[in-house]
Amino acid sequence: MVRVAVAGASGYTGGELLRILYMHGEAEVVYASSREYAGKPIHFAHPHLRGFYRGLVFQNLSIDSILKADPDVTFLALPHGVGLDLPPSLLESGVRVVDLSANYRLKDPESYRRWYGFEHPYPDLLSKAVYGLPELRRDELRGAKLIASPGCNATVTIIAAAPLVVGGLVDGLLVADVKAGSSEGGAQPSRGSHHPEREGAIRPYSIIGGHRHQAEVEQELSRLSSSTIRVSMAAHAVSSVRGALASVHAVLKDRVGFDVVWRSYASMYGKERFVRLVHPRLTPRGLDVKYVVGSNYVDVTIGLDDSAGRVTAFAALDNLVKGAAGQAVQAFNIALGFREDEGLDMPPIHPV
Ligand SMILES: NC(=O)c1ccc[n+]([C@@H]2O[C@H](COP(=O)([O-])OP(=O)(O)OC[C@H]3O[C@@H](n4cnc5c(N)ncnc54)[C@H](OP(=O)(O)O)[C@@H]3O)[C@@H](O)[C@H]2O)c1
Repeated sequence: MVRVAVAGASGYTGGELLRILYMHGEAEVVYASSREYAGKPIHFAHPHLRGFYRGLVFQNLSIDSILKADPDVTFLALPHGVGLDLPPSLLESGVRVVDLSANYRLKDPESYRRWYGFEHPYPDLLSKAVYGLPELRRDELRGAKLIASPGCNATVTIIAAAPLVVGGLVDGLLVADVKAGSSEGGAQPSRGSHHPEREGAIRPYSIIGGHRHQAEVEQELSRLSSSTIRVSMAAHAVSSVRGALASVHAVLKDRVGFDVVWRSYASMYGKERFVRLVHPRLTPRGLDVKYVVGSNYVDVTIGLDDSAGRVTAFAALDNLVKGAAGQAVQAFNIALGFREDEGLDMPPIHPV
């Protein structure tokens, strides 16, 4: 069994890591951190996990407390900017790291100043981190020591858009519109995010200067092309708890028909374990975040407006699973040579 530590285990993605890792046949959780719940059992923060993880209690986060638990791998489910020092220390002690925050996702240190407002203290480590999107980086993930797990809005946008870029089908700017549920903001409520404010909301946010996930979307899509891919993102807060939907609009380079565009999606995703292609003519109820909640699936479809020469690609996922904890476990599985769907072989729940 691989010994696993979870830092930030009382939060939403930490809770999903605990839920998924409980079902994992090759991993055992030996450490869970929380400052608020230190000394308390897991179900104090996660009532749905009552009866699971008997004997495990939260500990205050520190490098010493993690190392004392002797993990092989540590998942970091901490806010951006928190725990930046943990990966270098853990790696030095021979512990692999899967970081769910943005701390190690961007290759260019300058991007941290622009999008996250801090100077990255370990620029050398940025080039060593593997961006943990299995559909794009499977080969690099094998044996990886430091995995930077993608953001949920970034994942849903990249998965929607990648075949357009790989197929050389689009020209110019990609415009991505993402709608995301409230759990994306984490377990700590704020004035704008607690229930009375959020219920019923359909609200754009980060409307000046773009969404910070643009940086990783452009980074990853540009790797698939011989030229720099420009993406402009707008995000909307919606009132559902889970789910993210991306609608990516682009102008077709040549006026190709639906079948040509669809072939690019089928060739990139036809064999992907967690991407379900939803043919708009053959799938009666189409795509909806409601059909992926609770699972590691991302559903993908496309639409074509022949008269305008515009293609729209759509993707839907559960932000806490394929957008966070599930994808992190998928990347961990690849890095350690386990079955890619170990711990993740579960259908979505419905209705939600
Ligand atoms: N929510 C999503 O949909 C989503 C998707 C993809 C990626 N992510 C990323 O995953 C990370 C975690 O997100 P989340 O939604 O799970 O957040 P969250 O619910 O707010 O959980 C944060 C966790 O970190 C701990 N923590 C907070 N500040 C800390 C500090 N200064 N020192 C030590 N521990 C601290 C919290 O516990 P204590 O306060 O008790 O210590 C809690 O366990 C973030 O970087 C987020 O951007 C989130």
